[in-house]
Amino acid sequence: MRVEVQAGSPESVESDVLAAPLLAAKELTGPVAALNGRLGGLLERLAEQGELTGRLKTAPLFHLDGELKANRLALAGIGAREAVDADALRTAAGTLAREARGYARSIAWLLDDSLPLSPAEQARAIVDGTFLGSYDPGRWKTEPAPERLESLAIVSDDEAVGEAARRAGVVAEWANRARDLANAPPNELTPEGLADRAAEVAAGGSPHLSVEAPGLTEIRELGMGAFAAVAQGSHNPARLIVLRYEPPQARGDVVLGLAGKAVTFDTGGISIKKPAYMEDMKGDMAGGGAVIAAVGALAELECPLQVVGVVGATENAVGGGAFRPGDILTAMNGKTIEIINTDAEGRLVLADVLPYARQLGATHLVDFATLTGAMERALGDFYAGVFANDSEWRTLVVESGEASGDHAWPWPLHPRYRRYVDSDYADLKNSNIRSQGVPVLAAEFLHEFAGEGPWAHVDMAGTGFFTWPRHDYLWQRGGTGYGVRLICELADRLAAAA
Ligand code: BES
Ligand code: MN
Ligand code: ZN
Repeated sequence: MRVEVQAGSPESVESDVLAAPLLAAKELTGPVAALNGRLGGLLERLAEQGELTGRLKTAPLFHLDGELKANRLALAGIGAREAVDADALRTAAGTLAREARGYARSIAWLLDDSLPLSPAEQARAIVDGTFLGSYDPGRWKTEPAPERLESLAIVSDDEAVGEAARRAGVVAEWANRARDLANAPPNELTPEGLADRAAEVAAGGSPHLSVEAPGLTEIRELGMGAFAAVAQGSHNPARLIVLRYEPPQARGDVVLGLAGKAVTFDTGGISIKKPAYMEDMKGDMAGGGAVIAAVGALAELECPLQVVGVVGATENAVGGGAFRPGDILTAMNGKTIEIINTDAEGRLVLADVLPYARQLGATHLVDFATLTGAMERALGDFYAGVFANDSEWRTLVVESGEASGDHAWPWPLHPRYRRYVDSDYADLKNSNIRSQGVPVLAAEFLHEFAGEGPWAHVDMAGTGFFTWPRHDYLWQRGGTGYGVRLICELADRLAAAA
């Protein structure tokens, strides 16, 4: 989808749909009030009749033959003024995009200066909602749903609005590519399949982007005994996917390290999962998919920051060669791990991926992982949980989440939790039969492998892949692209601070 910015009056915009945000309020405001005047009080009358409510997730369309250059007018509800935020605009835009994508080629949005968001913030949210809300997960149907939306215009003459809209379009397009990765079936998106997609991303344009994806022999040679143990049960060989983005204009002393869990299918291994919804464990690579897509986005945006993305791609399979409870593994940093539960495999992959990201020069590290079902139970589908060894870094991650729509909420690390992963036989164990503090235990485990310097862990088990849709602009089941928007915002802020 193209993103355009058009100057001009509402009457002069040529588009299949002209859209404006509508508050749930007695008085019409901003562009809606202006249009009402132009249309002889029609919108006021429709509001009085209850046809225009401004409620979230309503976007009634009106045909106004000849009154406007646009073919239709849509007034998308953003709810009560006190509750208006970027998510309300995303939801309004997503509702309209979902409705209009079957028949409209173009949508043009008017902004409202009276809202508590700047025009640039409004534009960004509208782009997010339109791109993410028009996404169709049914790519594997022999007759895919019609998709005709080709262009999205924001009506504005403000250069900052144009810049925000274009940037948001690039980021959201990559978020949708991350969704494609998460939704791809596990027989298609094997670890090698994911490595091939990463290679396509690296080949896609930027001369400063490179990729390599060594297999199990090299993973073993690097001493990655934890990652290798998870990988050993599958006939689909593992890949260690490394993406480097090294733009010439970046300063030399800051490298953003992005670590991703990419378990292309998590059966649980010998500690096998129950069957209900096990098919959704194809989405257990959503963290790694987000890292790959985000690096692609940063390269396309020419973000002036060095980035290294390290993604551990493997299946967690059942089989004669699978690792078992009781096994003791040695990770690449030399620490030994007793296996209690083979379903706690993501932390084992990251135990080797995190030190490797440090070895490759990451000064500021953040990992993305669908790590614990307990995080989904705790925070549901809206906030991911963030843990960090550095409160400034955690704050930057949380604020990047808020600003981007990939919401994240701070969670604690504390030395007292370390005993949850104390083992009688090894340096630590990967799980605990007690079901207390599962997400915290997992984070405390990762902490042992985070190395020196700021590190944050984002547990996106609830936000990365939806078993049940969220009924806002992310109304689809499956991959959400969570993390791509957050990473792009974080990189921007880190580049600006550096
Ligand atoms: N991939 C799962 C976590 C998960 C569950 C993500 C549901 C998304 C939705 C992870 O590998 C896992 O199985 N975690 C276990 C940990 C337990 C064995 C300590 C879990 O959460 O049950
Ligand atoms: Mn698991
Ligand atoms: Zn898993």
